Amino acid sequence: MSVVAATAAFIVTIDGPAGTGKSTVAHRLAKRLGLEFLDTGAMYRAAALSALEQGIDPADGPRVAELVRDMELRFDWTRDPPDLLVDGRSVGERIRTQEVTRAVSAVASNASVRAAMVDAQRTIAALHPRLVTEGRDQGSVVFPDADVRIYLDAHPEVRARRRVEQLRVKGIETTESEVLAQIIERDRIDSTRRDGPLVRPTGADIVDTSSIDIDDVIDRLEEIVRKRAGRALVESAQHRDDGDACVVGDDA
Ligand code: DC
Repeated sequence: MSVVAATAAFIVTIDGPAGTGKSTVAHRLAKRLGLEFLDTGAMYRAAALSALEQGIDPADGPRVAELVRDMELRFDWTRDPPDLLVDGRSVGERIRTQEVTRAVSAVASNASVRAAMVDAQRTIAALHPRLVTEGRDQGSVVFPDADVRIYLDAHPEVRARRRVEQLRVKGIETTESEVLAQIIERDRIDSTRRDGPLVRPTGADIVDTSSIDIDDVIDRLEEIVRKRAGRALVESAQHRDDGDACVVGDDA
């Protein structure tokens, strides 16, 4: 018999509304800490993209639930950041269009979809236990016992400005007022839905990124992680490096 002596798991959750720089921050923080990175918004976006591609109304709850039940979502962890594949096909930048952004809130409000995504995220964490995971419900619902839970926030106007800039880089021209209206509406839907609403998890560290640049946000988060759970982080890395040495017992 063999018994695994300890766990290598080390999870940092980062939640918060759109436009706080969450994805970039989570990805860079993961690199700095030697952890993997999970973008859970991409999973909801992939579901919304599939609905649109198959001509399903994103607000048609039962049909979207059925679609997600039959869909195979998989990350290619050899890529950095991991590439998301739906039924074996990479979604790439197709999940970042304005059309998908407009459709995704309805999909993310679907209770069956959320249940499937929460299950999938926990399965991913079982296979990739050293993780920075970002979304809306990671610290509140999916991993309430995570080693460190962070909530990123920023004023809506600042978030709108950042989003316009991101879109401009991609060659998409919009106005700040249009994006601000979208952000306010998306926040409203995300915060008021019954399942997994966007909340500040109790006990989470709240970091407002309105007037801090991205490098300083990452420094601040690294400081929080090391202060709150530095020892567990080191032990988790040792456990990973020891590999089989952590399996004790014999095969008698
Ligand atoms: O972070 P993002 O913009 O890529 O998220 C896309 C949508 O998915 C957004 O409307 C919020 C929703 N979402 C969610 O409900 N729960 C998560 N864990 C991640 C994203």
